[in-house]
Amino acid sequence: MATQAAEAPAKSFTRMQDGQPEHWAVIGAEHQAHYKTDAPKRIIQHLRDLDELTLGFGCSQLQHSLMTATLARRDGASDEEVVAALCHDIGKTMSVPNHGAIAAEILKPYVSDDLYHVIKYHQDFQGAYYYNYMGRSTTMREDHKDESWYGLACKLVDEWDAPAFDPDFEVDSLESFEPEIMSVFSQPKMM
Ligand SMILES: [Fe+2]
Repeated sequence: MATQAAEAPAKSFTRMQDGQPEHWAVIGAEHQAHYKTDAPKRIIQHLRDLDELTLGFGCSQLQHSLMTATLARRDGASDEEVVAALCHDIGKTMSVPNHGAIAAEILKPYVSDDLYHVIKYHQDFQGAYYYNYMGRSTTMREDHKDESWYGLACKLVDEWDAPAFDPDFEVDSLESFEPEIMSVFSQPKMM
């Protein structure tokens, strides 16, 4: 009796238990192709979707994200930092309460551990400006004051993120960030 792989070498399995080396060679190659071009394009599409969200602010979440990244870029930030600034609120397309953690996990395979933590906890830092209106502590950033990434979190939030709600600010276009997006998201570090 012929094996399933011999009968249909170009097709994948229907149960992972039946996986053969030739299946995994195809899957591996497809994943590498996905990492190189498809994944960064999906990030760009998610960023574009932020244009549909305003959430009561004076500009869309896309304008806010572009302004945050533009301020980072003009401040001489690294490509990883600019992309993190651009993507720090990308999780809002799926869950506003969890958006920091979602963005951080998306970025995790591509950026430094410090930058991962900056994005994960950025709302704790931003709370200094509005948590008093919600009956919450405005000093939550102090919980992280001994972390190696504390200074970078203060910079991202205080100098790039918090001032970035101006609908009339001439932001750099989403297209202008594509080289940095394609570069940072082109290969996950854990692979
Ligand atoms: Fe933000």
